[in-house]
Amino acid sequence: MNLFNLTNKTAIVTGACGLIGQQHCAALAEAGANVVVADLNAEAAAAVAFGLGGGPHLSLAVDVTNPESLAGARDQILARFGHIDVLVNNAAINDMFENPALAADLSKFENFPLATFRQVLEVNVTGVFLAAQVFGTPMARQGHGSIINVASTYGIVGPDQSIYRNEAGEQTFYKSPSYPTTKGAVVNFTRYLAAYWGAAGVRVNTLSPGGVENSQDEFFIKQYSAKTPLGRMATPTDYQGAVVFLASDASAYMTGANLVVDGGWTAI
Ligand SMILES: NC(=O)c1ccc[n+]([C@@H]2O[C@H](COP(=O)([O-])OP(=O)(O)OC[C@H]3O[C@@H](n4cnc5c(N)ncnc54)[C@H](O)[C@@H]3O)[C@@H](O)[C@H]2O)c1
Repeated sequence: MNLFNLTNKTAIVTGACGLIGQQHCAALAEAGANVVVADLNAEAAAAVAFGLGGGPHLSLAVDVTNPESLAGARDQILARFGHIDVLVNNAAINDMFENPALAADLSKFENFPLATFRQVLEVNVTGVFLAAQVFGTPMARQGHGSIINVASTYGIVGPDQSIYRNEAGEQTFYKSPSYPTTKGAVVNFTRYLAAYWGAAGVRVNTLSPGGVENSQDEFFIKQYSAKTPLGRMATPTDYQGAVVFLASDASAYMTGANLVVDGGWTAI
């Protein structure tokens, strides 16, 4: 199992305080990595790093849309650990409408707000580009590294809007056009960067998760599960094996690929 060992590797997770990011951090720490818990909020990041237990883990306030914030983080990480080996480009926003009464109307493609579309592109695409540029450049210089760009099933297929109907058949909201657009972009950005940095020894792969069960209403969970060959939504820990695999030498001959972990959602 040495293939999966990440001892002495520095692994950065962006959006590390979210539902899945915390589990990525835990898995990388368990595999031996020194984990950099990077998220918007310094206090939340510190709490997640503390929760990882022993090891010289680091927490940092980082905004992936801000080049200065990323460069400052890179300098602190290099000062602390001397090298960057793994980047999990996990930070993203999934646009939701705060007022449920307006969601059905505003989320219609015909009405979809331009500002929301641009904001999601900024975090989910530009943020992935910037973090890869800032944290990946030292990887290319040292001649090795692994970048994992987190996409989604909605980077592969379009949303089936029928699962966003309630039990009475009313469309409570439409899944947005921006999120799938950004996740599709992440899949092909991965291929671009894998081709560009292959000779420099930096591997770049996509991880495409399926939907995680997270206090959604019972009817939605039932509908989603019925469309999934494995018959359930994911748990937040379902991606831990895939992250350690892509981060480590276990995937040494893999780059530009899209590892789909979705209970079979995109297979049918
Ligand atoms: N939860 C799911 O069902 C699901 C399914 C498929 C794919 N994904 C993908 O997995 C990843 C993690 O999802 P999640 O459910 O844990 O999301 P989440 O919303 O729980 O967490 C996202 C984290 O990103 C952080 N973040 C937002 N903007 C940021 C910025 N500009 N800079 C730095 N950090 C920022 C947030 O503070 C938050 O902690 C995302 O890329 C998401 O698209 C999630």
